[in-house]
Amino acid sequence: MIQSLRGMNDILADDYERFEYFLTTASTIAKRYGFHYIETPLLEETALFKRSVGESSDIVGKEMYQFTDKGENDVCLRPEGTAGVVRAFVQHKLDKKGGIHRFYYHGPMFRYERPQKGRLREFHQFGVESFGVASVYEDALMIMMISDILKALGIGYRLKLNSLGDQHCMPAYREKLVSFIESCGDAICGDCVRRKSTNPIRVLDCKNETCQSLYVNAPKLIDNLCGECQNDFDTLKQILDNHAIAYEIDTNLVRGLDYYSKTAFEFVSDNIGSQSAIAGGGRYDRLIEFLDGKPTPAVGFALGIERLMELIVMPEAQREGYYLGALDPEAIQSVLLAAEKVRRSTKGVVEYEPRSLKAHLKGADRVNARYCAVIGENELTQNSIWVKDLVEKTESLIPLSDFFA
Ligand code: HAM
Repeated sequence: MIQSLRGMNDILADDYERFEYFLTTASTIAKRYGFHYIETPLLEETALFKRSVGESSDIVGKEMYQFTDKGENDVCLRPEGTAGVVRAFVQHKLDKKGGIHRFYYHGPMFRYERPQKGRLREFHQFGVESFGVASVYEDALMIMMISDILKALGIGYRLKLNSLGDQHCMPAYREKLVSFIESCGDAICGDCVRRKSTNPIRVLDCKNETCQSLYVNAPKLIDNLCGECQNDFDTLKQILDNHAIAYEIDTNLVRGLDYYSKTAFEFVSDNIGSQSAIAGGGRYDRLIEFLDGKPTPAVGFALGIERLMELIVMPEAQREGYYLGALDPEAIQSVLLAAEKVRRSTKGVVEYEPRSLKAHLKGADRVNARYCAVIGENELTQNSIWVKDLVEKTESLIPLSDFFA
């Protein structure tokens, strides 16, 4: 039997109900915040991710579904959504228009990681990207939006916050950090030796215990911010305080993608095991120009939908629409005509096999219908349909000519 690939899951009807509830809730909130839907292709030129997510990142270095297509193009399945949205923004010359552009999107992302609980090779993100606002108020808006989405879904969280500095303060900090890493000598792991020359700040979130214990004494980004980055970080904390959004400063939070500067954040859940990050994002003011666009400030985030699925508190399913059935074989054609009328305004599920009334009432329960409607010999002679309201527990015989007339 052919099975789905490791780390790639089917989403069956029961789960999709949750999935769809998440998408409706998150999209409604994104629209309320003034964001517009954007859809970009699943397949992009590999160079897009190398230049944005960064060659030194694990995502580009180890995890891409990369191949040469029949036209000899070097392409890959998108590992994340931001790069594609920036590519579209530049390609359609929206950067030249100026002003503020706010997008949201959702869809599958692909990373060749080692699958485990909460870590898939095909997973779904809901993301938003905002272009054209340099103010830290937009960073706060992102965090408020995630907080609203999680609250609406009944999901608790912890928010981790850091500032990664910018082109003014980061180079000097990087030098300090490299000197510190060199002072650790051979004690650090091979990955950190590599990171020291490719992207030194990534050593800070190394999972190796020896490295972790050494880096406790590393210089902290947050103690080395320039005036502007410090001001922005202080303002962000103040806005969050005013909105009663609790946060923890995590000086080792560097994010796994290279495009960030200034604000970086992650939302984590303590109830889903080791893969606890449910959302991540931050500011990336340089990315649009790196991808050949006009320099434009940008900030965004993405939520990992699979990691949220078991945490979502669904509203109780309401009975909805009609279940329709025939009591006698001759009645089925009339049942089909009645169902057609029903579906013009609500759900109509038909049972084709003639059954007893008791069996049909059970069937209506099974599909969670509000009404059970049946036609038998009696109804046929009276040209009518028998309807039971399963909430109000009332029954009536309705002339077919009046039924959804
Ligand atoms: P990210 O932190 O790589 O950020 O991914 C965002 C979220 O996607 C994570 O917090 C997690 O919930 C989910 N996720 C990531 N990898 C997996 C996986 N293998 N299996 C299941 N879920 C996963 C980004 O992708 C950035 N593009 C976010 C962003 C948007 N930053 C600015 N704008």
